[in-house]
Amino acid sequence: MAMMNAIEISAYGGPEVLRLVQRPRPQPGEGEVLIRVSASGINRPDVLQRRGHYAPPPGASDLPGLEVAGVIESGDVEAMEAAGLRIGQRVCALLAGGGYAEYCVAPVGQVLPVPHGWSDVEAAGLPETFFTVWSNVFDRGRLQAGETLLVHGGASGIGVTAIQMARAMGAQVIVTVGSRDKASACLRLGAAHAILYREQDFVAEVKRHTQGRGADVILDMVAGPYVARDIECLADDGRLVIIAVQGGTDARFDAGQVLRRRLTITGSTLRPRPVAFKAAIARELRRHVWPLIERGAIRPVVHRVLPAAQAAQAHALMEADTHVGKIILDWTQAR
Ligand SMILES: NC(=O)c1ccc[n+]([C@@H]2O[C@H](COP(=O)([O-])OP(=O)(O)OC[C@H]3O[C@@H](n4cnc5c(N)ncnc54)[C@H](OP(=O)(O)O)[C@@H]3O)[C@@H](O)[C@H]2O)c1
Repeated sequence: MAMMNAIEISAYGGPEVLRLVQRPRPQPGEGEVLIRVSASGINRPDVLQRRGHYAPPPGASDLPGLEVAGVIESGDVEAMEAAGLRIGQRVCALLAGGGYAEYCVAPVGQVLPVPHGWSDVEAAGLPETFFTVWSNVFDRGRLQAGETLLVHGGASGIGVTAIQMARAMGAQVIVTVGSRDKASACLRLGAAHAILYREQDFVAEVKRHTQGRGADVILDMVAGPYVARDIECLADDGRLVIIAVQGGTDARFDAGQVLRRRLTITGSTLRPRPVAFKAAIARELRRHVWPLIERGAIRPVVHRVLPAAQAAQAHALMEADTHVGKIILDWTQAR
């Protein structure tokens, strides 16, 4: 049986539970490809999984890792042809798990060509945030050109993608961040305003920057006590999209505002959604976002690249919360 290197969660706990191990190479099934992985993106949900708070959906690999870039090694040729993919092609892919490994399988519909000019390391950090931002900000949140988007956690992997995508689509972006360095980074990426949430009241600041109108869409990865404050600084007909609950799940808010001002409160998680749903997002990204990437309106934001064997250090770095953009594991340094 062909073996591969992989990073497994040996027990729930701190970064040290991540171990480099040998596992059998996965086999692609119908409608799937086998990818020889060059680089794997790290996402906050991987940290939650490592701590035992985010189990993989049924049928997914127990290995962490929601995104990779590499080369198609083999797979369902008919499905590949129908999707315009071929063996040997450089691709990036969204996964439900199994990305921290030298080989992974992905449904053809979740595989996209590496954008021109992007390295594998850069492309490995693309799928999870691009799929998440597209489906939440543009699909559920219906952000339009000329509107204002507030992104909590502007310097996160999700945040740097949201800033650039929304800006490239003609929206104004305001972010909240925890430090001055993160504020500067977000402004350089195209945010119009960065609010230091530890020092400033984001409700008052959003109102000030929008002449009292408020934000049309809010992308919230904090929730808890933020929900009531989000509602206060949403514009009439505004949409609040919750994608994480770092601040807790309990929220009290004035429900009267929701009906008086026709607000929408929604949210979603990407990982457990069916392959067909993710494939539909992939087609939308290809159509609407790939052209923006290829004309340079959206760029990769890689904070740090570590050899895959140092996955524990990479998780510790993410939990230190000083990063701007993506942290990536490089498998080529292990070969
Ligand atoms: N629903 C979905 O489908 C989905 C998919 C992917 C990710 N997510 C979620 O999206 C979030 C970002 O993921 P990521 O991989 O990009 O993680 P990340 O880079 O580690 O970002 C986490 C961010 O949360 C920010 N944050 C924490 N508390 C905050 C607060 N009170 N106010 C404002 N910002 C705060 C941190 O910013 P500061 O250091 O500036 O505080 C940090 O930038 C995670 O919570 C993740 O679970 C959801």
